Amino acid sequence: MDLDIILTRLIKEHREFNRVLKNIERRLRQNFSFDDLELLREFLHREVDDHACWEEEVLYDILDREADIERIIFSHEYIMDRLRKFEDALDHFRKGKMGKEEIVGEAISLIKILKDHLTEEESILLPVIRKKMYGKYDK
Ligand SMILES: [Fe+2]
Ligand SMILES: [Fe+2]
Repeated sequence: MDLDIILTRLIKEHREFNRVLKNIERRLRQNFSFDDLELLREFLHREVDDHACWEEEVLYDILDREADIERIIFSHEYIMDRLRKFEDALDHFRKGKMGKEEIVGEAISLIKILKDHLTEEESILLPVIRKKMYGKYDK
């Protein structure tokens, strides 16, 4: 696959994640709604899962020796684990075993982990992809 297609998709999807996460976080801080918690859960399940699989599939071959792919994969596993914990927390909340503030705290901490992951990933991947692209064009 072409490196500029990979780079464009990576940047586009990260921008979209940041936008959605920022909006959900803002709404959760301003005005509690269970719908936003559900939205966060659905969004993460659908998008993050797809995105992370794509990253691992595509990047492993291309950037294996040049970027710290293991660190990214470890970080994906950690996010999936935190997502499962968030779903358990949502269950507790639904059953009245957890308060509003606590569940919002869980959601916000999950959002922070995701945002940090996006930043970390970009700091690992973008320089390597760009270096490879320019290397290719230099020849
Ligand atoms: Fe990722
Ligand atoms: Fe990513």
